[in-house]
Amino acid sequence: MTNDEVGDLVDRYRVVRSHTEELAAPFSAEDQTVQSMPDVSPMKWHRAHTTWFFETFVLGMADESHVPVDPTFSTLFNSYYVAVGPRYERAARGVISRPGSAEVGEYRRRVDEAMLALLAADDDPAIAEVTILGLNHEQQHQELMAMDIKHVLSRNPLVNRPGVIDWSPAPTSQESLQAFEGGLCQLGVDPATPFSFDNEGPQHQIFVAPFSLADRLVTNRRYLAFIDDGGYERPDLWLSDGWALAQAQGWEAPLYWERGASGWEEFTLLGRGGLDLERPVAHVSYYEADAFARWAEARLPTEAEWEVAVRALGATDDERHGTLHPTGVGDDHFGSLWQWTQSAYAPYPGFAPAAGAVGEYNGKFMINNQVLRGSACVTPPGHSRPSYRNFFNPGSRWMFSGIRLASGAS
Ligand SMILES: [Fe+2]
Repeated sequence: MTNDEVGDLVDRYRVVRSHTEELAAPFSAEDQTVQSMPDVSPMKWHRAHTTWFFETFVLGMADESHVPVDPTFSTLFNSYYVAVGPRYERAARGVISRPGSAEVGEYRRRVDEAMLALLAADDDPAIAEVTILGLNHEQQHQELMAMDIKHVLSRNPLVNRPGVIDWSPAPTSQESLQAFEGGLCQLGVDPATPFSFDNEGPQHQIFVAPFSLADRLVTNRRYLAFIDDGGYERPDLWLSDGWALAQAQGWEAPLYWERGASGWEEFTLLGRGGLDLERPVAHVSYYEADAFARWAEARLPTEAEWEVAVRALGATDDERHGTLHPTGVGDDHFGSLWQWTQSAYAPYPGFAPAAGAVGEYNGKFMINNQVLRGSACVTPPGHSRPSYRNFFNPGSRWMFSGIRLASGAS
């Protein structure tokens, strides 16, 4: 590595790490609460876990005799890395009263000090590679922090009060379908891309039949028509597992929609206000997206169709990142909401996880999840690519997910 490359990495490390602290700073009070559902983690847990990642996989790799800042942290803040050792129960992270937010801050400070010293003194490409993975991992947690704190705040009537937001209405634009020829296409990350997660490759050829893809996400207006047409009461529209889950949990609208005095309202990270009908519908499960598509006499795209279309359009990770709620003006493949695809999250041909514990990052989740493509308004800038494969359980709704329709044989 050149001196400039080392300098760039040190700068990037500082920027990503301090951004996490900026995101968490307003929410230390929420660290005193028990988590609002099993998927949600406290802010201080995210801050500590992302630090644990660097301590375990970078400092531990650089020096096998590295003495952990606190040996108990390796259990408390290990998320799912079985090869590293015991892990604390995910659904109980909210009862970790100690260490407190300030002690987690001190943990971050000590690991940062060691990381910055290591990066300045050692130009080993293997250390740089895992550090870059750690920074991308931390960016994923920055988005998780937005998702998690939104769920926690939504449960607090002091914050989730009616009528706080008075939207300036999003512009109206008509959805239209764009046709793509398909054919023999490349799927997956170009090996020349500076960084990608292992699940984005290997790049390979795939045949895609001609298809059409909507040029914008499904709006609240259209989703409301689905609800008003009995969308949540018609089992013929739903996959069996989805229908069972919707019944068991009493779904009658997307997560965060609430009935207000004069119609539907929506809770957002900006507060709660009347539903803006032109914004994209957010926080729907795969099951809801699939049922809506069936009702609309369309379907969800495959992940190959989505990627082929985005490459053909030249769509890129764009300037609308950094908002706390999608704006809804079309041209929204990136930076608005993640888009469900009908593709099961499975390995690409020839996929092999990395050797060692870090190989547990993606590969072992390639079952019972669906792929989402694009990025969301809360995704950190520069954190997505046309080949990026996000994935969630089909019943999950707390991530910033939306619907883009497709048609044609798939
Ligand atoms: Fe993680």
